[in-house]
Amino acid sequence: MFRRLRYCVVCFLSKIPRGKFGTITVALATLVTTIYCGTLIRFPSDAPTPSPTEPSYDCKIWKQSPQHKTTLITTKSCSRNYFLLILVSSAPANQGRRNLIRQTWGTDNNVSPEWKTYFLIAKAENQTHSDFVDKEDEVYGDLIRADYYENYWRQSFKIMMAFEWASRYCNFSYMLKADDDILVNTAYLIHFLQKESTPEKKLFLGRAQRSPGVARDGKWNVSYEEYNHTHYPDFCSGAGFVMTYDVIECIVPLFDVIKPYRMDDVYVGMLAHAMGVKAVGHRGFLIPFENYEDCNFVPNVLLQHRATGQCLIKLHHIHKNIKDFLFNRKLGSYF
Ligand SMILES: *[C@@H]1O[C@H](CO)[C@@H](O)[C@H](O)[C@H]1NC(C)=O
Ligand SMILES: *[C@@H]1O[C@H](CO)[C@@H](O)[C@H](O)[C@H]1NC(C)=O
Ligand SMILES: *[C@@H]1O[C@H](CO)[C@@H](O)[C@H](O)[C@H]1NC(C)=O
Ligand SMILES: *[C@@H]1O[C@H](CO)[C@@H](O)[C@H](O)[C@H]1NC(C)=O
Repeated sequence: MFRRLRYCVVCFLSKIPRGKFGTITVALATLVTTIYCGTLIRFPSDAPTPSPTEPSYDCKIWKQSPQHKTTLITTKSCSRNYFLLILVSSAPANQGRRNLIRQTWGTDNNVSPEWKTYFLIAKAENQTHSDFVDKEDEVYGDLIRADYYENYWRQSFKIMMAFEWASRYCNFSYMLKADDDILVNTAYLIHFLQKESTPEKKLFLGRAQRSPGVARDGKWNVSYEEYNHTHYPDFCSGAGFVMTYDVIECIVPLFDVIKPYRMDDVYVGMLAHAMGVKAVGHRGFLIPFENYEDCNFVPNVLLQHRATGQCLIKLHHIHKNIKDFLFNRKLGSYF
């Protein structure tokens, strides 16, 4: 019964038209949704127990050498300290996705921004794309670039250069590493991260995969030469996960010890495991399975995978109306 009711509210919310009337309707619907669904849908997270062991190496020492350790080219710094740094993996050709992210959830319009989105980009083999990217970087200045050719199986290089850039050139409390086909519910994510119960150190949070088996056939098959155990260490799905600054800083020196693995999320899991940091699960990281086609609105998600184009616009619109209602901005004059 609860399930059906929840479905109804969700359907209703996702079908509301835009405009002023839409805003008020959403506001009212939100009351129902938050009061009702808020009690129905709680995303339980595994008890976040910080690891007791301190790393046995000096995590900062690698920064003394100005030489980059990874394929990182960019040397610009973050323009300020951010509470949340969002790094989005994106291929050179995906300029449309990047622009849509900038126009929807990717920009903090506050006078003193709490968070900032950057895009992680490798080199384009196509000269046209390469020229586009140079122009884009001039216009927005939000690209972090790597010196290797973009390739699906080289995502670990992107993670490595991203971690190096973040810990060398930025100050922040939390980093969200995301893909360019997701919706981030930034207001709610920040709200969650600012909660007293959210650890400020040693955090590795996302949709946790517990001791997953190693595939020996299918798209994700791996040979015994590549990996000869039956299971991987726990990891968080790569579409979107959160880490604290201390974890990222201490992972960088491990790049010399653990060689890059073809699947980037598995690689991050191996690195975190080597550091003694546990992958903590939270169901607000909504990562649907392979053949997921719907574009369902789900209240209280932290992020949602497989949201691009019209789907992203729709979901962002709904979340934004809810936020404006909850924070009483747009509707202030009505009360
Ligand atoms: C490069 O990309 C452009 C635009 O997407 C395309 O029209 C062109 O055919 C591509 N060139 C090559 C050599 O693939
Ligand atoms: C980060 O903050 C520390 C201490 O406030 C400062 O020394 C350092 O220069 C900052 N780094 C960047 C890249 O802003
Ligand atoms: C293993 O994966 C590769 C691609 O990485 C694919 O070409 C090959 O067909 C797969 N093998 C099996 C047995 O599924
Ligand atoms: C597994 O691979 C590692 C190196 O990658 C090697 O040291 C170890 O002996 C291998 N184990 C088995 C059972 O083959």
